[in-house]
Amino acid sequence: MTRVFDDDLALGFGTRAIHAGQRPDPMAGAIMPPVFLTSTYVQQGLGENKGYEYARTQNPTREVLERNVAALEGARHGVAFSSGVACVDSLMRLFKAGDHIICGDNVYGGTYRLFERLYRNFGVEFTFVDTRDAQRIADARTKKTVAVIVETPTNPMMRITDLKAAAEAAHAGGALLIVDNTFATPFFQRPFERGADIVFHSTTKYLNGHSDMVGGIALMNDDELAQRVQFIQNGAGAVPSPFDCWLAVRGTKTLHLRMPRHDANGRAVAQWLATRLGAERVIYPGLESHPQHKLAKCQMTGFGGMISVETGSKEKADAVLRRVRIFSLAESLGGVESLISHPASMTHASVPVERRAQLGLTDGLIRLSCGVEEQADLLADVEHAFSIL
Ligand SMILES: Cc1ncc(COP(=O)(O)O)c(C=O)c1O
Repeated sequence: MTRVFDDDLALGFGTRAIHAGQRPDPMAGAIMPPVFLTSTYVQQGLGENKGYEYARTQNPTREVLERNVAALEGARHGVAFSSGVACVDSLMRLFKAGDHIICGDNVYGGTYRLFERLYRNFGVEFTFVDTRDAQRIADARTKKTVAVIVETPTNPMMRITDLKAAAEAAHAGGALLIVDNTFATPFFQRPFERGADIVFHSTTKYLNGHSDMVGGIALMNDDELAQRVQFIQNGAGAVPSPFDCWLAVRGTKTLHLRMPRHDANGRAVAQWLATRLGAERVIYPGLESHPQHKLAKCQMTGFGGMISVETGSKEKADAVLRRVRIFSLAESLGGVESLISHPASMTHASVPVERRAQLGLTDGLIRLSCGVEEQADLLADVEHAFSIL
């Protein structure tokens, strides 16, 4: 089980980002963690080894990532996986047929698909609720409820769940609160301080920040829970490659530098769009017009670079998407480069049409991931692309 280095937790966020979980390599003193490209480790005798036996079970580069992100979230343990979805899949193996899970109704499309299309087949029951209202969590709870899973802000409707209220509602029934903190990152939002039991990330996004790997990670404080998740990591085997772990660690070193820039660009682009198109068409928690702006301000220390915009129709969305020059039409988010996407046909295509309609996830909705380019260039790009509306 990978446990954070305790003295890392006393450091400031930026120092943790750069150093947590990492000690100069004992052989050569390399300042960067070595990439341990090995499938196995030589043992001295039966039951005698250096703590490493087989690379699915343990890998030192993976442990660096696990300790680093655990320190950033202020958690004791980290367990890394081969993708964000593999991380959720592995967390689901904590549960069994007959268990009931309450899940936010606007989670990432792949999370929804995993639950609806795969885990239902194994007898796990799900209730999807609007977790903006914690009472709905309480109302959905049954004697069999084992976990409440929320994403905040949500992808792509930017809904905010009050994490403290969600934790109270989950814990009142003895369930775990599991939080997807991919959008906000630990730089802007600290779910453990509000009662979360497990926090997870698609490291593919802001943590890596450079769009050059796919990965996931779960963080937790409870030793026994961490032991169970690590057992699943080895037992089910959805482990990340050492090189992908290294890329993620290189990314987290600059998380505290990138996030303020994503945030500044996000605010400026959202403000420009709201002024040009009308605030009701722009969904960004940093705008005062966002119905949960007050809660977002209290729960987050910044709002990041994710914005959703209602263009009015699929044709208009397509026309905008074809006009951008710096924003690139692509799935994913959180990289240094700005991306733009069409959730209904891309990230959330697996969500049934009726459910998308209930959420307001229309065919005219566009999602922007503002990168860290020069703000003036992003504003000019947006102005050019959206001028046709
Ligand atoms: C909020 C959120 N959670 C989880 C995932 C899944 O992560 P991955 O694509 O690394 O499997 C995504 C992917 O887009 C996401 O946006």
